[in-house]
Amino acid sequence: MKVLVTGGCGFLGSHVCEFYAQKGAKVVSYDNMTKHELARTGFVADEARRHNWNYLKKLGVKLVKADIRDYRRLLKQARGCDYIIHTAAQPAMTISWEDPRLDVTSNVLGTFNVLEAARELRIPVACCATVHVYGNKINEELKEKAKRYVRRPAGIDEEYRTLQGVLTPLHASKAAGDIYVKTYIDTYKLEAASFRLTGIYGTRQFGGEDHGWVANFSIRSVLGIPSTIYGTGKQVRDIIYATDVCEAFDAFYRTRKAGIYNIGGGEATAISLLECFDILAKVLGRKPEVRFEPARHGDLSYFICDISKARRALKWKPKVMPKEGIGRLVVWIQENVEVFRGDKR
Ligand SMILES: NC(=O)c1ccc[n+]([C@@H]2O[C@H](COP(=O)([O-])OP(=O)(O)OC[C@H]3O[C@@H](n4cnc5c(N)ncnc54)[C@H](O)[C@@H]3O)[C@@H](O)[C@H]2O)c1
Repeated sequence: MKVLVTGGCGFLGSHVCEFYAQKGAKVVSYDNMTKHELARTGFVADEARRHNWNYLKKLGVKLVKADIRDYRRLLKQARGCDYIIHTAAQPAMTISWEDPRLDVTSNVLGTFNVLEAARELRIPVACCATVHVYGNKINEELKEKAKRYVRRPAGIDEEYRTLQGVLTPLHASKAAGDIYVKTYIDTYKLEAASFRLTGIYGTRQFGGEDHGWVANFSIRSVLGIPSTIYGTGKQVRDIIYATDVCEAFDAFYRTRKAGIYNIGGGEATAISLLECFDILAKVLGRKPEVRFEPARHGDLSYFICDISKARRALKWKPKVMPKEGIGRLVVWIQENVEVFRGDKR
């Protein structure tokens, strides 16, 4: 089996590459090695993508530095592959409103090119959308409790209306990618899936304030740098560990049930930002320092996926619970502390 992973040197992509390399597949990582959000973390950004590149090199992954907006190069690398997993993206909401052109070209044109390559070569493809496609009107449906927002019913399924509330360019670009996947399924009978992903976390995640909040808080807490919570800290996500997402990609490859899926941990893995700090305090044996700032434009205060559709159709379920996953992440950060030390802002 040969797998093409766009964004292979990113956080999720590196896990997908590792997952298939360990299964004995030939794996190609296709990544332009951008550092837009990494450059703003205050960590040693230059090290981050290189860290993942070097990690994958040791696993025997073929590393191609190229852009998904370059259709010819993408098509060339896709030829002969059995499966494309498309993780490359401009993933940060903050960067989307600062540089909407980067956002739209990466997320819309990039996803379109991936789908075109899959159509031309008749290769199954799984794409990464986000629960942000639902918009943030959900914020109006919440009750505030001591440590988190709650909603009844807790889980939100794929039938929930999309793009409600205040939108940012990221909402538009990720939703467009999601719509294109459905379009290619309906029009060209492409074996494709769009995963509407909730907050993902795990090792090799260089999370910063713009993207990857569990890793951002974990890195800062390990290094002793204060973390900033925007809003009350009662925001909730059903966080999902990276290897559980890899299992979902593989489940789609095996079942080929084309469609749109919410992929998260469901109620069992739901935590608020404040509860994330409670877990970090237990794991580290000390209380991390936290500061509060007003909520940010476009923020979604709550999302818990109803994952019934993925459970049923893909015969998949998440396995890693937050305490275990955050524990693994913390160990990785502690073992790689030099990657994060730099001009700590
Ligand atoms: N991390 C999360 O919590 C989360 C949540 C929901 C959805 N997602 C989605 O999952 C996917 C993976 O996210 P991630 O956290 O691994 O992001 P990431 O930023 O760590 O990885 C993305 C990778 O894509 C590469 N890339 C960006 N633009 C590219 C281009 N034009 N051509 C080639 N490569 C390019 C980057 O260099 C990077 O290595 C994204 O589609 C993201 O929107 C992530």
